Amino acid sequence: MSYRINFDEPIPDLIERLKREHRQLESKLAAVESADTVNEQSIRILEELSEPIIRHAVEEEARVLRVIMHEAKEQSRESIKIAQEHNWIADFIKKTIPKLSSMPQQQAKQEVTQFILDLRQHFSEEEEIMFPLALKASSVKK
Ligand SMILES: [Fe+2]
Ligand SMILES: [Fe+2]
Repeated sequence: MSYRINFDEPIPDLIERLKREHRQLESKLAAVESADTVNEQSIRILEELSEPIIRHAVEEEARVLRVIMHEAKEQSRESIKIAQEHNWIADFIKKTIPKLSSMPQQQAKQEVTQFILDLRQHFSEEEEIMFPLALKASSVKK
């Protein structure tokens, strides 16, 4: 998959949009989380969210992490760690989602519940650490 990144969107606007995307993803995932079982509809929602989640992560790496590496490199350690969490997000999308329908129900529910919990935590780390640092870094830039 490859995505066109809009490098003209100012960092503050981009960050506001990424936060809105967090809220949208959270509300769609809440529906999956509240279902008693991982049913066909839950799997369809997860499949539909896969592409927006990956595109969102690619933008964070190409733009948010990039401005941090350029303008605030000495404070970048935590943000690099947060961005590396995109690895397990991509793994869940590529490896776990396709197997959900053939998994024992209890295991499927456990995998999905854990993913949603971890993703919510990931969003809050971004909003508390990575996004504020990128905003600061982008204001240094010009
Ligand atoms: Fe992310
Ligand atoms: Fe994010």
